[in-house]
Amino acid sequence: MTQPIEARVEDLLSRLSLEEKVALVHADSKFTTAAIPRLGIPKRWLSDGPHGVRQEVGPDTWKPAGRTDDFATAMPCGIALAATWNPDLAQAEGAVIGEEALARGKHIMLGPGVNIMRTPLCGRNFEYFGEDPFLASRIAVGYIRGQQSQGVASCVKHLAANNQELERMTINVEMDERTLREIYLPAFKAAVEEAGVYTVMGAYNRFRGQFCSHNDYLLNNILKGEWNFQGLVVSDWAAVHDTREASLCGLDLEMGTDKPYDEFFLGRPFREAVQGGDIALSVLDDKVRRNLRVMIGTGLLEGRPPGSLNTKKHQATARRVAEEAMVLLKNDDGALPLDPSRIKSLAVIGENATRLHAHGGDSSGIKAFYEIAPLEGILQRAGSQVNVTYSVGYGSDTGNDAIERAVQAAKAADVVVFVGGLNHDSNSDVEGSDRLDMKLPYRQDELIQRIVEANPRTIVVLIAGSPVEMGAWLERVPAVLLAWYGGMEGGNALARILFGDVNPSGKLPCTFPKRLADSPAHSLNAYPGTNGTVRYEEGLLVGYRWFDTKNIEPLFSFGHGLSYTRFEYSNLRLSPGAAEFDVVNVGEHEGGEVAQLYVHDAHPRLARPDKELKGFRKIFLKPGEKQRVSIPLDQGSFAFYDSDRRAWVAEPGEFTILVGSSSRDIRLQDKFTLRRPSS
Ligand code: GLC
Repeated sequence: MTQPIEARVEDLLSRLSLEEKVALVHADSKFTTAAIPRLGIPKRWLSDGPHGVRQEVGPDTWKPAGRTDDFATAMPCGIALAATWNPDLAQAEGAVIGEEALARGKHIMLGPGVNIMRTPLCGRNFEYFGEDPFLASRIAVGYIRGQQSQGVASCVKHLAANNQELERMTINVEMDERTLREIYLPAFKAAVEEAGVYTVMGAYNRFRGQFCSHNDYLLNNILKGEWNFQGLVVSDWAAVHDTREASLCGLDLEMGTDKPYDEFFLGRPFREAVQGGDIALSVLDDKVRRNLRVMIGTGLLEGRPPGSLNTKKHQATARRVAEEAMVLLKNDDGALPLDPSRIKSLAVIGENATRLHAHGGDSSGIKAFYEIAPLEGILQRAGSQVNVTYSVGYGSDTGNDAIERAVQAAKAADVVVFVGGLNHDSNSDVEGSDRLDMKLPYRQDELIQRIVEANPRTIVVLIAGSPVEMGAWLERVPAVLLAWYGGMEGGNALARILFGDVNPSGKLPCTFPKRLADSPAHSLNAYPGTNGTVRYEEGLLVGYRWFDTKNIEPLFSFGHGLSYTRFEYSNLRLSPGAAEFDVVNVGEHEGGEVAQLYVHDAHPRLARPDKELKGFRKIFLKPGEKQRVSIPLDQGSFAFYDSDRRAWVAEPGEFTILVGSSSRDIRLQDKFTLRRPSS
C-alpha cells in the first residue's frame, strides 16, 4: 500500500502471465473483468451511469437481474446539472454518486457524458451538458473531482463527436480541426488535464473514417500524446470491430462485444497475435499498466470505504440540484411564485404531473429508491391549504374527452399548473433514437391553447431534456418553468419553486430555437448526414455561436433564466488578469444569479463566432446585498485554435468583454486590448 503506484504497477505486471494480462483488457460479463485471485486482483465492476448507479443486469444479458438490493439515488439528468451553472454543486453530485458506487461495489462509473448539443433532436441531449464547451468543461471537472474523491473512477464519454443517436453505431463524422479542438474536445481535455479523470470511453461512431473506440488520431495522438493521459480507454459496449486496430489504436479495455468473452477482439485473437509476434508484447503491457494504474489508484486491491445509499445528504443534494437547475423562462406580472394563502383551488393538468422518468432513458436510467412526481410534490406542499385537482389532459393516447375534462378542470380552478413536455419514449429523450421534430407530442399545443383560453392564469411546467417549440401558446401563457427531468426529488423541488420557498436560479445550457430550421445543423441540411457520413458544415457555429453570428432571434437564448428577484450590474473594471464588477439584489427575494462573461474578438485573423463564453460565477444574494465579482482573464480567454500551427493562439488586438445575465442580456461591456505577452 505504501509503495508508489508506478512501482506497484510494475511489480504486478512482472508477475502476470500472458493469459492473465489479456484477461484484464476485456470483459468477462456485461459489466465486469475477471478476477486474478493468485495475485489478489478481485473482479472489477463497471457501472452506468451519469445520473446514479444503474440497476444490476445480466450477468450476460441486458435484462434486469431482478434484484432488490440495487436501488440508488436518482439525480436530475445531466443537462439539468449543467443548467445549475454550479461546478461546486456538480462536485457534490459526483461525490454522492461516488459514495453510492462504493456501497454498490462499483469501481468505474460510466459518466459524465459530455457530448455537445449540436442538434436539438439528439436523443441523449438530456444526459449531456448542453451546447457550450466552456460550461460543459466546468461542470464535468466538478463532477469528476467529486466522484473520484470517493475513490471511484469516473469515465468521461463518449470520445468523440457522438452528437446524434441516428446510425450511432456506424455513422462517420467529418469536421475541420478547429471545430474539433474548439467545440468537441474541450470538455474531454479539461476532464483529463484538470480533473485527472481515470477513464475515457470511446464512442460508437467513426471519426474521419476510423471507429472512435480504436481511433489512432483521437486516442494515441491527442488523448495519450498531446494530453499525456495515463488512465485507460474503455470501449463503448459493442463498439470494437477489429483486433489489430483495437491493439494499436489506443483501446485498453473492450466491453460489450457480441461474442463469447474469450473471443473478444482483445481476447484470444489478441493473445495469439502477441504470442505469434504479430503484435509486440509492449503493446499489451501498456494496456495492462493502464488498467492496473486505475485499479490501484481506486483502491481495488485494498479494502474500500463502505460508501452509503439514499442518505439524507444524498436526498438533499438531489433536491438542491433539481432546484438550482430549474429555469424560469417567462414570468409576466409576477404570475409566479404562487401564494397558497390567496389560492382556493389549483388544477394540475398533464401526464407529466404523475409520470415517473428516473428509470427511463436506457443506460442512464436508475431504479430509484423513490421518485416524487410533480403532482405529489404540489399536494405535499400546498394540499392542506389549497384544493388541488388533477386531470391527465394528454397522454400517448390523448382522446378528446381527456382534453374536455382538462378544460373543465381549468375553468373550475383559480390557477392551473400544466405539467407537460417530453419523456423517455422512443424518438423522444432517449438513447438509441433521435427526436423527429422539436414539437411537444400528444397534442399538447392544442391542449395548452384550450386550457389558457379557459383560464388565463395557467402556468406551464415543462419536463424535458432538450429544446421544444412553444410558438403555438407562449404569448398567451403568463409563466413557463423548465424543470428538466428532476430525479427522485424533482417533484419536491418543483413545488418549492412554484410556491416561492426557493428562488429559481437555473440558466439555459442550450439555445431554444423558435423553429428547428433556425438551428445550424438543420439550416445547413447537415443532419443526419447522407450515405453514412455526417459533415459538421456549421463548424464552430454551434448553438448561440450560430444565432449570434447570423443574427437570428432565438425563442430563449443560451444562459437565459429569470428570477423572482432582480439583479443589477455596475462598475465593470478590466485588468489584464480579471474582469471585476458589482452585482446587487434589488428585489425582495433572496436568490442566485449566474453572471456570465463573453469575449468578442473585434478583428480576428481567422473567422470567429460573434462571442464565446469564457467565464461565469454563480452568486447568492439576499435582498439589498451587493457583491464584487471577479472573473479571471487569461490567455485562454482570448485564444482560438490555429490549425496551421496546431496550437491554441491568443493574438494581440482589440476585444470586447461582455458581462451579463444571459448571452443576450448583456449588462456591462468594455473594450480590452490584448498586448503581446511580455517575453
Ligand atoms: C451504452 C452507452 C454508454 C453506456 C454503455 C454501457 O450503449 O452508449 O453510454 O455506458 O453502453 O451501458
